[in-house]
Amino acid sequence: MNTIVLTVDPRAPDPAVIRRAAGVLRAGGLVALPTETVYGLGANALDPAAVARIFAAKGRPAANPVIVHVADVAQARAVAAGWPDVAAELTARFWPGPLTVVVPRGAGVPDAVTAGGPTVAVRCPAHPVARDLIRAAGVPVAAPSANRSTELSPTRAEHVLKGLDGRIDLVLDGGPCPGGIESTVVDVTGGVVRLLRPGLVTVPMLEAVVGRVEVGAAAGSVARSPGLMAKHYSPRTPVRLLETHVQPEALLREDDDANRLIGWLLLEYVGDEPGTQRTGRITGVRMPRDPVAYAARLYDALHELDRSHLDVIYADLPPDTPEWAAVRDRLLRAAGRGEA
Ligand code: TXA
Ligand code: MG
Repeated sequence: MNTIVLTVDPRAPDPAVIRRAAGVLRAGGLVALPTETVYGLGANALDPAAVARIFAAKGRPAANPVIVHVADVAQARAVAAGWPDVAAELTARFWPGPLTVVVPRGAGVPDAVTAGGPTVAVRCPAHPVARDLIRAAGVPVAAPSANRSTELSPTRAEHVLKGLDGRIDLVLDGGPCPGGIESTVVDVTGGVVRLLRPGLVTVPMLEAVVGRVEVGAAAGSVARSPGLMAKHYSPRTPVRLLETHVQPEALLREDDDANRLIGWLLLEYVGDEPGTQRTGRITGVRMPRDPVAYAARLYDALHELDRSHLDVIYADLPPDTPEWAAVRDRLLRAAGRGEA
């Protein structure tokens, strides 16, 4: 398959480009699209054969359900069997935006979307390209992140092509995704609000709306959110985390082999400007000290280091605070140390 790439203005998407992409979706094809979090790999969520193509292109296990992207609350309610009050409160506050809500599954939703389960995850993205495309397609759009299964999520069209060129119909290149990490996922089907995946909508932000939020899957439940498997979102280069900052000389001494090339995501550095710098065998990326700015940069930095033929990537682990929870989660997973 020849993958077509169309450039689109992220602020004012060309309606002709959007119409063409919507036509591909309605015909059962796969379109990679920018959202405010990461690029998604979209298909008509109501077409089981189209959704099956997502799983084939990504090499995704059938047991991992996908998020259904909608243009508004009405379209979300149409794929749900019920809309708990907390879903109404959360979506009123955070939609359109980087929050995914797991609700009871509606009758028209194919098994492939929900992995056969009784719930469906829905999100209304804020990105103009995603929003216009869903509206133009006239159907809800199933879209996991547009990467091969277990690999890093894409925040640029070139990252999408690295994994999926020749495997999908179309890529809408709307430039870099502003958020940079995947949406917050909450399950509201159990009477409590349960955080399944941390994201830029933090626990304190959720609790300001709904009171208490439980963190993690219910005790005794197995893999409620299979994307939460420990090894996920990983670059090919091994990642090691530094709990406390060390000096470069100490890291070089500690790293086993004197010939190894090292990447380093630095949180503590001299000088103010983020950026990449090579010194000897260390390629250091000075990361922003603000969690939102750090998230926007994280996958791009990991993709960049992963292309650089390094032997290992070190990362300073940010503090264990609610604001940094999503970034810490992705770093722990990149290192294969996430909580399952
Ligand atoms: O920001 C995002 O959420 C991006 C953009 C494209 O919207 N999408 C994304 O999709 O990250 P994906 O498939 O890579 O991650 C979806 C996560 C997975 O952890 C999946 O297991 C979980 O949501 N999920 C999907 N449906 C679910 C359901 N019914 N119950 C529990 N978890 C669900
Ligand atoms: Mg993903």
